[in-house]
Amino acid sequence: MTLHARIIGTGSYLPEKIVTNDDLAKIVDTTDSWIQERTGIKQRHIVADDEFTVDLAEHASRRAIEAAGIDASEIDLIVLATTTADQVFPSTACLLQSRLGCQGGPAFDIQAVCTGFVYALSVAEKFVATGTSKKALVVGAETFSRILDWTDRNTCVLFGDGAGAVVLEASEEPGILSTHLHANGDYSKLLHVPSGVSNNLAAVQEGRAYVEMEGSDVFKMAVKKMGEVVIEALDANNLAKSDVDWLVPHQANQRIIAATAKKLGMTMDKVVLTVAEHGNTSAASIPLALDAAVRQNRIKAGETILIEAFGGGFTWGSALIRY
Ligand code: COA
Repeated sequence: MTLHARIIGTGSYLPEKIVTNDDLAKIVDTTDSWIQERTGIKQRHIVADDEFTVDLAEHASRRAIEAAGIDASEIDLIVLATTTADQVFPSTACLLQSRLGCQGGPAFDIQAVCTGFVYALSVAEKFVATGTSKKALVVGAETFSRILDWTDRNTCVLFGDGAGAVVLEASEEPGILSTHLHANGDYSKLLHVPSGVSNNLAAVQEGRAYVEMEGSDVFKMAVKKMGEVVIEALDANNLAKSDVDWLVPHQANQRIIAATAKKLGMTMDKVVLTVAEHGNTSAASIPLALDAAVRQNRIKAGETILIEAFGGGFTWGSALIRY
């Protein structure tokens, strides 16, 4: 019997506070029309001062677990993608495990920035498809607002906070059909936060504790690599572009998304777009979009979904999913 990993529940959560483009125009030299024209973003959700990545992850996870119709105690693996872990250690996945009360199985974080959810899904899929885990919780959760320079209009208008989650179950039915992960660390300086733990002092002394980005170079590379990785996923499954029912892309920029849809010959009504409502939520953006489309009854059982992402590293990846 061949085992597969199937998605049996999705959930997501956005913090209450909404910051509009007009709000940002009061603190940096920008306009609503510039942001909308260049990115498609209208607003983003930002955490409260006492709200952390694990809080967002918990809300999204509880919703996914409820949608799956299981008890949290049945979860035997947590893989959590985040760039904005609450602590140096333990991992946010361990903090989440304690909140949910599903101790005992492995729980760990994955760091692949905006590609984090695709990486996490790929790792969890292998645990489930090999029979190592029966029910896995895969989460993307970010408080990106905490690593933004709110005086830098090049970056602060693009990102937001949020979380999304899926529950995977071992099944004889497919499932996640394939995943495709890539990285090229030669490009690390085009999109990065220079400070960290080991090299913290120098970067912080230089005042470089926030996201720095060469926007135009990132844009070009994102379009190129996401175009390649969606074709790679189709080829691996001998599927034609027309076999894809839904594109659920990383929600960074509507123009990048439109370029990938064009490459696939897909009309925009087959693309799940949520970037206008919450900006780029990094590892949370794909599960946020997936959950929105599922709850709106747009994505239906048996349909074929293509997810794809690009992020700091550079990292990029895709997955084909039979829902
Ligand atoms: N409001 C107004 N002007 C802004 C601005 C803002 N929020 N941010 C940047 N600008 C200005 C720049 O200062 C620059 O001005 P200059 O030409 O006087 O130096 C100009 O706009 C840049 O214009 P342009 O290069 O035409 O912008 P763009 O079409 O490349 O759009 C981004 C800029 C950042 C929106 C775009 O490059 C992008 O989306 N890049 C990818 C970012 C991303 O998705 N990162 C995460 C990947 S996971």
